[in-house]
Amino acid sequence: MTAIATDESRQQQEAPSIASDAAKPAGKQLATRYDARAKVTGAAKYATESRPPADPVYAFMVQSTIPSGRLLSIDQAAAIKSAGVLAVITPFNAPKLPLASPQPPARRHITVLQETEIFYNGQPIALVVARSMAEAMQAANLLRIHYQQTPAKLNFLDRLAEARPPKSPGREPATQTRGDVAAAMAKGTVTVDHTYTTPYQHHNPMEPHATLAWWEGEKLIVHDSTQYITGDKMAIARSLGIPLDNVRVECPYTGGGFGSKGSMWSHVVLAAMASKVVQEPVKLALERPQMWGPVGGRPATVQHIRLSATPDGKLMGVQHDVIVHTSVMEDFLEPSADQTRMLYSSEACGTTHKLVEMNLGVATFMRAPGESTGTTALETAMDELAVALKMDPVKLRLVNYAETDLGSDKPWSSKHLRECYEQAAARFGWSERNPEPGSTREGNQLIGWGMATATYPANRSAAQAMVRILPNGHALVACGSQDLGTGTYTIMAQTAGNALGIDLNLVEAQLGDSTLPKAPVSGGSQSAASIGPAIQAAAMEAKLKVAQLAIGDPNSPLHDAAIADVGASNGRLFLISRPSVSDSYVEILARAGGKPIEATGSAEPGEDHTAMSTHSFGAVFAEVAVDADTYMVRVRRVVATYDIGTLMNTTTGINQLEGGIVWGVSFALHEESHLDNTYGRYVNSNLAEYHVPVNADIGELDVTVLNIPDTKFNPLGARGIGEIGITGTAAAVGNAIFHATGIRVRNFPVTLDKLLKA
Ligand code: MOS
Repeated sequence: MTAIATDESRQQQEAPSIASDAAKPAGKQLATRYDARAKVTGAAKYATESRPPADPVYAFMVQSTIPSGRLLSIDQAAAIKSAGVLAVITPFNAPKLPLASPQPPARRHITVLQETEIFYNGQPIALVVARSMAEAMQAANLLRIHYQQTPAKLNFLDRLAEARPPKSPGREPATQTRGDVAAAMAKGTVTVDHTYTTPYQHHNPMEPHATLAWWEGEKLIVHDSTQYITGDKMAIARSLGIPLDNVRVECPYTGGGFGSKGSMWSHVVLAAMASKVVQEPVKLALERPQMWGPVGGRPATVQHIRLSATPDGKLMGVQHDVIVHTSVMEDFLEPSADQTRMLYSSEACGTTHKLVEMNLGVATFMRAPGESTGTTALETAMDELAVALKMDPVKLRLVNYAETDLGSDKPWSSKHLRECYEQAAARFGWSERNPEPGSTREGNQLIGWGMATATYPANRSAAQAMVRILPNGHALVACGSQDLGTGTYTIMAQTAGNALGIDLNLVEAQLGDSTLPKAPVSGGSQSAASIGPAIQAAAMEAKLKVAQLAIGDPNSPLHDAAIADVGASNGRLFLISRPSVSDSYVEILARAGGKPIEATGSAEPGEDHTAMSTHSFGAVFAEVAVDADTYMVRVRRVVATYDIGTLMNTTTGINQLEGGIVWGVSFALHEESHLDNTYGRYVNSNLAEYHVPVNADIGELDVTVLNIPDTKFNPLGARGIGEIGITGTAAAVGNAIFHATGIRVRNFPVTLDKLLKA
């Protein structure tokens, strides 16, 4: 695998840390990941590895084996007598919680042993608490559970006629129409009209959902594997009906999340409840099969796309109608048509989203919710249109390049997608492509080249941070954010160090504790873009305080200097007008009494934000080799170039994009949860049968970024990076398969049985 940032020299220059330089690219970078040593030595402690004040006991979550109905009874006589068992908690004996459950029409997101109604197969219906995990699981087998079963809503594809609009609006309206779609549709002479489907998928971070909870009097301490400690804290307090201040959530390391840990699920409340019941610290870690059901997943989608174009490729009418499965418990919408509103220019565009209720657990955000499934369908349809037009697929996209966001009728904060197409096409060698499907053969391998556009919104939320300069010249940066393996620690240290002019290796970063300054959910690709400016503001303020100490100190070479003339680098403050005049943090603080200096900072999107459309973009090119006899598909290489604003850190940033692309290949070829439509369980709920790519499935990855700062979006110029990599990739691979074979598979994943059947 190769990973090249296009402008590394600019990245590695040390930017002088003065306020006016805030808009420059990321400055000096940590040579490696901040948390690398802790991770590889095992010093990094994940949720259930933390040390509670007393030896913890173990809780095992017992799940419903029917998809719909009612619990009649749970006979726990044998289980409670089983070795090591401390408690068996069921809806018949569980502490009653005030559960501020959402009001109808939305029902509830989680179940925590407060009702006997069964909404899905896999719903938590009891908790066995024992001295060891083995004893808890053993006792769970002894429970005698009686149900009354009712007919379940299970077969999604058979029930599309039941599709209805979402009960409450999401961030974007479910339905949007621009222009007269029917009239525009009629103007086009070349059309595409197809339905694309994407399957149930389940995130499987290596660290499953896991919680360790204990009580210290009225105070609840929760070590949880989460993407959002502040949200976790609020949800826990609300669910248990206890004051917010009585909950502390800690999560120094999250072993992957991908959206699944963006909201709180049943097991967190159950762990706290169990700890209250048995008066011991309780560990509750989900078993791998328990990851399919009670903790979300990506909903299945059916997407009908109609495109019409003039012979020169100009899009006239665009219509994208999406049906997504949801749970009878609560609506969750995967907004697969959202990108269709903004990605291309057209005369008119209509988009709709509808839901089909099912007896399944509530689905949730899964890497690029909306855009991952949506670009898979839209970018396949665009390829089909290019074939129908006999036009190069890159050219088709350039012909319909959106100079503004037509969906929201706003200008882009910054958009350089054209350069992405150019750069990625050049690196790939796209100009050599013979457009004829099946035209390129290497022995028995059919070679195909395909491409697609990638896009994901750039999000940003309010965040706070604290920076402390220590008398020994080191610094501490603290922010209640999370690091899911994404690089949050690294960019925190880097951002603070650059702003302070302190060596990045001397900066300690703290996150993952709800007592720290508040940060948003590490979801929606927004952490760096949200906390970066807050950290920078805090660091600037701390530096300013030290500068003022020096200016006011007759013994400082900086005495009486103008504040605007003070810069910082290499642990020293200096005069910008005369850099040889300087004073070190260590000496300034020593003369001022040897106390640390700290400052807090906050940042939030300005009002002008609502006047702009903020998105990241990219172009993805894929090469596949398909065996002419077996139709086994190999992705030989993926070349992608992204416009994501400033690349904050090459190591962590390029790795995020690569990870997204790998997942896109998985989406294209491998990944699917198979639902048993009679019993409502996923039958391949394990990592042996839920196929994800291994290294041998991923050929060469060539990822570059334009690294053009988007300073209208935030002072660092950095847009989100966590999710865009998965977008477009599945379509690029599918389009390459079509180019190799002439076979178009519209129901993902593109497995060889579907190719053989065609
Ligand atoms: Mo991301 S799916 O918003 O964690």
